[in-house]
Amino acid sequence: MKIAANAATLLLAMVFLAQPALAEGDAEAGKELGYTCLGCHGIEGYRNAYPSYRVPKLGGQKAGYLVIALKGYRSGERSHPTMQAQATSMSDQEIEDVAAYLASLGGETVASGGEKAPPFEPATACAACHGQNGISVNAQWPTLAGQYESYLERSLRQYRDGSRANAIMGAQAAIIAEEDIPRLASYFASLEGLETTKVD
Ligand code: HEC
Ligand code: HEC
Repeated sequence: MKIAANAATLLLAMVFLAQPALAEGDAEAGKELGYTCLGCHGIEGYRNAYPSYRVPKLGGQKAGYLVIALKGYRSGERSHPTMQAQATSMSDQEIEDVAAYLASLGGETVASGGEKAPPFEPATACAACHGQNGISVNAQWPTLAGQYESYLERSLRQYRDGSRANAIMGAQAAIIAEEDIPRLASYFASLEGLETTKVD
């Protein structure tokens, strides 16, 4: 009886321990793979040709979120032909490593949380998860501050029309007023945060 209880405790402990490991990649190991991403993510203002919107900034993005995003492309939950092609060949470990590398490249603002953003009423509801200043409060949730406006707008529209499926954001996006979509995108884009990935 005693032994069984201990085994159960151990199992529980392992489940909890397994969670932080989600974002524990090796940034150094992810560097080489990271270079292949720079052809698009490392060029300031680079655009997805059709439909036209800017390729998202990854510098300073939360590692845990990058892992979820890459696995989403790999499994087909997120559809984008190029990103699916990139992610398909990556192992879980490679995904963790490249995420750790890219997340390590953001500047001070992303790391420290930056200054409090000017108030913007439609963004009040977003702060619980994306932070007071657009810098996410949880490793699994994306930072929005400094992201490209056109990419933010596109993702909000995709959550709304269901072409990007996510239970949490689907519910959030459904209640945003139509005229607030471009305003929210422009607001978060104006905050200091994410950066285009650069190598020195
Ligand atoms: C040919 C250009 C191209 C290359 C190369 C590329 N990406 Fe992307 N990436 C994109 C585009 C475009 C998007 C936006 C896709 C969408 O709309 O879902 C994107 C989206 C992403 C996202 C989601 C970001 C977010 O905020 O949700 C991640 C993470 C990502 N890429 C990581 C990588 C990694 C890691 C590599 C290298 C292994 C890489 N990409 C290589 C073009 C590229
Ligand atoms: C309960 C938590 C929560 C709230 C509140 C919330 N979000 Fe999100 N948001 C998320 C999560 C989780 C994701 C990642 C979903 C995914 O994997 O596609 C996300 C993703 C996004 C993205 C895509 C970012 C990227 O890099 O691809 C945008 C844009 C966004 N949210 C905007 C908003 C806005 C604007 C609001 C307020 C109106 C808001 N969110 C409120 C949790 C939240």
